[in-house]
Amino acid sequence: MDDQINTAVQVRTGDERAGPGAARPSDPSDASPSPEPELPQDDPVSVVELAGVDRTYPGKPPVAALRGVDLAVRPGELLAVVGPSGSGKSTLLNIAGTLDRADAGTVRIDGRDLSDCSDRQLASIRAHRIGFVFQQFFLAPGASALDNVADGLLYTGRPKRERREAASRTLERVGLGDRAHHKPGELSGGQRQRVAIARALVGDPGLLLTDEPTGALDSATGEAIVELLVDLHRGGTAVIVITHDAQVAAAMPRRVLMRDGRIESDEAVRG
Ligand SMILES: Nc1ncnc2c1ncn2[C@@H]1O[C@H](COP(=O)(O)OP(=O)(O)OP(=O)(O)O)[C@@H](O)[C@H]1O
Ligand SMILES: [Mg+2]
Repeated sequence: MDDQINTAVQVRTGDERAGPGAARPSDPSDASPSPEPELPQDDPVSVVELAGVDRTYPGKPPVAALRGVDLAVRPGELLAVVGPSGSGKSTLLNIAGTLDRADAGTVRIDGRDLSDCSDRQLASIRAHRIGFVFQQFFLAPGASALDNVADGLLYTGRPKRERREAASRTLERVGLGDRAHHKPGELSGGQRQRVAIARALVGDPGLLLTDEPTGALDSATGEAIVELLVDLHRGGTAVIVITHDAQVAAAMPRRVLMRDGRIESDEAVRG
């Protein structure tokens, strides 16, 4: 029913599930049966890349929420974004997630420059390539966990039975296979956040964007959510986690610190 949306998505770059350090997808026109060539590991196409991005909210006075932000996230990477309140973290996430557009600079998803995309194309990229998780779970209270997750595939035009099968598999993946028929009000906070994560993941996005995913949870429950995010990263999904929680940030292999709309530091921790 939504073929136009489906055909609008020409941004895929081959192997969508490429894990950390995975080789760049080979050219499909090269039919030779030789083994995968050794490609440089240091420049796979970023799942999301911001270069020189500015975002100013109009008003009196205007607020320069992002100023010359450069950030590239490789397939399967896991990073925390930290910084004081008002430093531009959510603005960055909205722009990386195509919910908002940059005023200057370039944003690419899977190598595709978003400035060439219509709003409809952006919506399609979002539906197919990006999952979102927020502090407030945003689940439909009257629907089961299964239907909440299946709703994550509404825009794909896939038939309901397929959507529910995929939802069931994804609930298993987040450890909630036995709660599929519970409504959000019949789940704990941590379980609700797992449902929200399953909904974000059900379409197999390459990029999961999370804004304070543990903000509404006690620390033990939050830790379990962090473990889940680490598992997803190990499974090849790139994950950006905005967090105020130093313990959450400490669990991440890369940490980006924002201050006054700029990236003040961006450090990878080698384990
Ligand atoms: N829609 C908007 N209109 C005007 N100004 C805005 C808007 N959204 C955010 N801002 C301003 O832009 C700046 C960055 O906001 P942003 O929400 O990105 O910060 P944040 O780092 O996510 O903060 P917090 O940790 O409190 O969530 C802030 O000064 C904020 O007041
Ligand atoms: Mg914020």
